[in-house]
Amino acid sequence: MKSIIHTEEPITDALHAIIERWKDEEGNLIMIFHAVQKEYGYVPRNVAIFVAEALEIPLARVYEITTFYNYFNLETPAENTVAVCMGTACYLKGAEDVLKEFRAKLNIKGDAAYSADKKYKIEEIRCIGCCGLAPVITFNEEIIGKVKVEDVDSIIATKTK
Ligand code: FES
Repeated sequence: MKSIIHTEEPITDALHAIIERWKDEEGNLIMIFHAVQKEYGYVPRNVAIFVAEALEIPLARVYEITTFYNYFNLETPAENTVAVCMGTACYLKGAEDVLKEFRAKLNIKGDAAYSADKKYKIEEIRCIGCCGLAPVITFNEEIIGKVKVEDVDSIIATKTK
């Protein structure tokens, strides 16, 4: 099971404005949580609770929406995100070994998503359309192709924020 890290986020004036703007509109939950994700970078748990209370709806309804759509991110963003493509072309060119090496070097155990210090998050992603560069990773959104296991150390050293 993936570990989920929750952080208490401030209830901002912008959040009050978001709720005020959408509270009486049809289908408002999606619009509110789009705006929440824009404001916080994800959907914090305490904000989800706050929105449910403000709209006087069950929290379960909020989670129905935010877990149904992949777009919504319920986890605290890490400082650095490494995404390893596990699509067919990348897999055949050794993506699994690259993934294992990143996990080992970043000390992210088992199938956990985060390093203990929350500095790194690792994700497995599907084809991102750069199969000619397989195996491909993204490091903080930068696409890096033809990654070899022995490159992992220097990628971490040069790309970490
Ligand atoms: S399979 Fe990895 S980029 Fe296409």
